[in-house]
Amino acid sequence: ALAWAQEMHRPAIHFSPKKGWMNDPNGMVYLNGTYHLFFQHNPDSTVWGPMHWGHAVSKDLVHWKELPIALYPDSLGTIFSGSAVVDFNNTAGFGKQAMVTIYTNHNHRLEAAGSDKFQNQSIAYSLDEGKTWTKYNGNPVLSNPGIRDFRDPKVSWYEAGKKWIMTLATKDRITFYSSPDLKHWKEESQFGKDLGAHGGVWECPDLFPLNDNGREIWVLIVNINPGGPNGGSGTQYFTGSFDGHSFKADHTGTKWLDYGPDEYAGVTWSNTPGRRIFLGWMSNWDYANVVPTQNWRSATSIARELKLVKTSDGYLVASQPVREFNKVKTSTGNYHIKATKGKLALSLSRAASFTVTLSNDVGEQTVIGYDHQKREYFIDRRLSGDTAFHNGFAARYTVPRFTHSAVLDLTLVIDVSSVELFADGGRSVMTAIFFPHKDYTDLNISRNVPVKKISYEEFE
Ligand code: FRU
Repeated sequence: ALAWAQEMHRPAIHFSPKKGWMNDPNGMVYLNGTYHLFFQHNPDSTVWGPMHWGHAVSKDLVHWKELPIALYPDSLGTIFSGSAVVDFNNTAGFGKQAMVTIYTNHNHRLEAAGSDKFQNQSIAYSLDEGKTWTKYNGNPVLSNPGIRDFRDPKVSWYEAGKKWIMTLATKDRITFYSSPDLKHWKEESQFGKDLGAHGGVWECPDLFPLNDNGREIWVLIVNINPGGPNGGSGTQYFTGSFDGHSFKADHTGTKWLDYGPDEYAGVTWSNTPGRRIFLGWMSNWDYANVVPTQNWRSATSIARELKLVKTSDGYLVASQPVREFNKVKTSTGNYHIKATKGKLALSLSRAASFTVTLSNDVGEQTVIGYDHQKREYFIDRRLSGDTAFHNGFAARYTVPRFTHSAVLDLTLVIDVSSVELFADGGRSVMTAIFFPHKDYTDLNISRNVPVKKISYEEFE
C-alpha cells in the first residue's frame, strides 16, 4: 500500500482527511496557540452520509494534524454544519474558557416521517480544548418553526450589546437570533429575501466586522448552492452595517468571494483578534461525490486573510494567503520551473495577457492566465487529466479584473490537485481542482510578459 502522503492526488499543504468523506469546514476557532478546524465528515465512506464532526489542529494554518472525531450522531440527529466559540465570560456556565460548538442536528427519521421540523440547533462543550465533548442536556437550544432549510448556525459575541448573535441560513434568507447564554435564543430580524443571488438554497453564513481606516464595516457571507458564479456551489457576500439587531446591505448587486468552481461553505475563524481568516471546502456539490480519489474525498482551501478594499463601486472583500505561507522554502524565479507544489508570485509592470501552464509528461495541463482584452483571469482545466467522472468538469472558468491599476500582481497557490488564484491584492480570486493521471512536474510562464518579479516558493 502507498504511504498516506504518496496517495494519488493527496494534497501537500491543504488539509484532507486520512480516510472517508469531508465537506464543509465547521467550528473554526483559535485558542491558546492552536487553530482548530472541524469538518463535515462521514468516516465510514467516501461519499456523503451520516455526518460527524471531524477535527484537525494546526499551529501555523499550513500544517494540519487530524485528531479523533469530535461529535458523533445522537438521538437528535446527525451533526450538520455549525460554528464554535470560546465562552470567555462563562455565559453558559459550562466552565472557564469552555469551547462551545453550535451545530445543526439533522433528524433523518423525522424527515422520512414527513415532518418539516427535522433541522434544529444544538450545542456541545469541551473543557479540554476540544479533545472531549459533552452535548448539552437541554438540546436542541433552537427548535425549528417549520422551515425545511434551517441550519448552519454561525455564532459570535457582540461586545457592544453583550450578547451572542447567531446567523442562521433559513432557506432563502438569513435569520439573526440573539442569546445571553448560548442556550436561549430570540429572533432579532431577517435579511436577504430580495437581495443577492438566489439560484439555490442559502447555506453556511457568517457575520463579522472588517475595518476601513477605523470605520467598522460588516460583512455577511452567504454560501449558495446551486447558483454559484461559475456553476454549482459558491460563496457570495454582502457589505453593510449591523447594529446588534439587523443587517443592512450598502449595495444591491451580488458580490462573490471566490469565482472558481471549487471553494464552498467558506466561513471565518472565531477568536483571531487583529485579523479575519477564511477557509472553504475545495469542491463543488455538482461532482464532490464522484471525484477520482481513492480512500478519502476532498480537501479544504488554504487559510486566507480577508481585507476590505474601497472602490468607486463600494466595498470589496479581498483575500490573500495568510502570512504563514511566506515561510515556505524560496527558490529562484524563472519562466520554467521544475516543480508544481508551491506558491508562485508574479508581478507585471503593466497589465498584459499571459499564461501559466502546469503540465506533466503525458500531455495533460491546466492553464491559468489573464486575458487583457476581456479583462479577466481564467483557469482552464479542459485538458487537465481525468475529467470524465462528471460531464462539465472539463471547463474554463473566469473572474473579472476589478482594478485598472497599471501594474498587475498574481499569486498562485499550487498543490498536487488544486490551484488558488489571488490577483490584484486579492480582489479577484478563483479556486479550481484537477486530477491529472500523473502529477504535474512543470510550470511554464509564457515568455512574452513584461515580468517585473517572479518568485516561486516550494512547499515543504
Ligand atoms: C453545505 C451543507 C450544509 C449542511 C451540510 C451537510 O455544503 O449542505 O448546509 O449543514 O452541508 O453536510
